[in-house]
Amino acid sequence: MTKTKAVFIVGGSGFVGTHLALRLRDRYKVFGTYCNHPVRIPGVTLLPMNLGNRNLIKRMVYTIRPEAVIYAAGSNDVDWVEANARESELAHTSGAASISNVAEIFQPKFVYLSNCYTFDGNRGNYHEGDTVLPATALGKAKVGGENFIRGKSLNYVIIRSSPIFGRGNGISRTFLDRLRMKLARGERIEASDSELHSFAPIEGLAEVIDRVLDSGIRNKTLHYGGLTKVTLYEWARLFARRFGYPAELITAKRLTSGTASNYELPQLDYSLNSTQSYGMLKIKPLLLEESFDLIEKNLVPRL
Ligand SMILES: NC(=O)c1ccc[n+]([C@@H]2O[C@H](COP(=O)([O-])OP(=O)(O)OC[C@H]3O[C@@H](n4cnc5c(N)ncnc54)[C@H](OP(=O)(O)O)[C@@H]3O)[C@@H](O)[C@H]2O)c1
Repeated sequence: MTKTKAVFIVGGSGFVGTHLALRLRDRYKVFGTYCNHPVRIPGVTLLPMNLGNRNLIKRMVYTIRPEAVIYAAGSNDVDWVEANARESELAHTSGAASISNVAEIFQPKFVYLSNCYTFDGNRGNYHEGDTVLPATALGKAKVGGENFIRGKSLNYVIIRSSPIFGRGNGISRTFLDRLRMKLARGERIEASDSELHSFAPIEGLAEVIDRVLDSGIRNKTLHYGGLTKVTLYEWARLFARRFGYPAELITAKRLTSGTASNYELPQLDYSLNSTQSYGMLKIKPLLLEESFDLIEKNLVPRL
């Protein structure tokens, strides 16, 4: 098949970026960026780039002339963002603005990856039209990025995704990688019991983005998550049971107030309602068990 369309994945060396590149490389000319972690993905051109370097961004975008930009830079780690405000602002907000400004001349479809922390977590089951009210620094940075793209890009799709699980790219480890490693060694691992999420598999998010690129959808915000709502602790135990690991090694960690009385904080619910995306993109909503089926073929079996 002749690949004519160029897709530019900003954050191509990350967990999401790598999986996207693998999914899209057969049909598109895929270019991706890395910053501190060079990766090699056969069939994909990976280029070094720091989002703070506007001149380099301009040269890169003018060379690639992308028909689609997928903005997958940043972090989904609430604690990392809390501790690294400047880097987070660059990766989620001003970096996205730079890429969008520079690429404007080519009028690419701009896919911005946002998340569920744009909401306050008090209610759950959030629809696309619900009022965003971020309580975390990560959520605030995402709302900043979303607002810029919505205000400036003429052809954007914002995808707010629930936390995604899957194997890492061998360079940086995901929670699933760490969980499997610890359980296989018979070691204990803590997982948060503080937040409910509609977790979804990376294969599902890659399919959503693939379909968005193929579709005529523009200037929309879409939600993506699974049908089952659990905490990371519950998710990890279900995963362990499904794949034959000792679930009792997983212990629950609940956030506390940090005051003298140190009471447990109430559980928050960041689950997303993705009914609109399932319908528009004709994708199958997944129960957690079905998500596990989907990732099973990508997991190296236990010996
Ligand atoms: N993972 C999830 O569950 C999830 C869910 C919803 C939304 N998202 C969003 O998707 C995006 C990617 O998440 P991820 O889990 O794939 O994160 P990740 O594995 O940490 O990857 C982050 C990517 O961003 C790049 N990056 C970070 N700072 C940069 C900078 N200053 N200049 C250039 N590149 C920079 C990294 O490059 P190097 O590693 O080479 O330095 C890497 O390619 C994030 O914005 C996240 O909020 C993720």
